[in-house]
Amino acid sequence: MKDARAELRTLTAQLKRRIASSDELDWGHGQKRRDKTLEELKLEVESCQKCPLGKTRIKAVFGVGNPRAKVMFIGEGPGYFEDRKGEPFVGRAGQLLDKILESIGLSRQTVYIANTVKCHPMKNPKTPDARSNDRPPIEEEMDACRPYLDEQIDLIAPRFIVTLGSVSTKAMLHNEEPISKVRGIWREYKTASGRLVDLLPTFHPAALLRNPDLKKLVWMDMKNLRSKLEKGV
Ligand code: SF4
Ligand code: URA
Repeated sequence: MKDARAELRTLTAQLKRRIASSDELDWGHGQKRRDKTLEELKLEVESCQKCPLGKTRIKAVFGVGNPRAKVMFIGEGPGYFEDRKGEPFVGRAGQLLDKILESIGLSRQTVYIANTVKCHPMKNPKTPDARSNDRPPIEEEMDACRPYLDEQIDLIAPRFIVTLGSVSTKAMLHNEEPISKVRGIWREYKTASGRLVDLLPTFHPAALLRNPDLKKLVWMDMKNLRSKLEKGV
C-alpha cells in the first residue's frame, strides 16, 4: 500500500513536470501569469535609466512577437525608426527581415524579436533628428542592458535563437571569430536559468542591404532553421 502511494506520487510529479514543460498546451492561468511577467519586464525597461542611452531615447524598444515563440531573433539595437515607433526592426533592415521570415512561413507575430540593447545608440546624441546617426551599442551599454535580454529569453523560453549579425552573436557566444565564419553553425546556448537552447548565428539584414550576395547564405540558414522547426528537435 505504501509502495503504491509512493509510486502514485512519483507518477503525479512526473506528469506535472511534463505538463509544465509542454508548450503545445495552452495553459490557462500559467500562460496569463507568464505573459504578465513579460509585460512587467517591459514596464521596467520603459522607465530604465541604467545606462546613458536611457536619457536620449524617445521610446524604449522592448521586443515584439509571440510571448511563447519557438524561435527568438536577436538584433543589435534600435535605430532611428525603432526609437520613434518603440518596435524593433521597422526600418529598411526590418522590412527585409519581414521578407526573410515570410520566406520560411514565419512572421513578426509568430516569432519573437528583440535586441541586445533596448534604447537607441546614437553617434551624436545632440542631434537626435539627424539621419545616419545610428551606431552599434558599446560593451558597457550591452552589459547594463543584458539582464533584460536574459530575463526575456527565460520568460519566452524559445527552442531556438537566431542571432542577427556580429554584435548580437558576440554578445551571446563571447566568441571572437568573424560572423562570416560562425554563421550557419548551430551552437548550444545556456540561458541565465540554465536551459539549453540551440542558437544559430546569421548575417544581419542590414548587411544584406549592403551586400546582396549574402542573401543566399541567409536563405540557407533559414531553410536550416525551418527544417529544425519542422522536426521539433
Ligand atoms: Fe536601460 Fe537598456 Fe535602455 Fe540602457 S539601453 S537605459 S540599460 S533599457
Ligand atoms: N537593427 C537592429 O539590430 N535592430 C533593430 O531593431 C533595428 C535595426
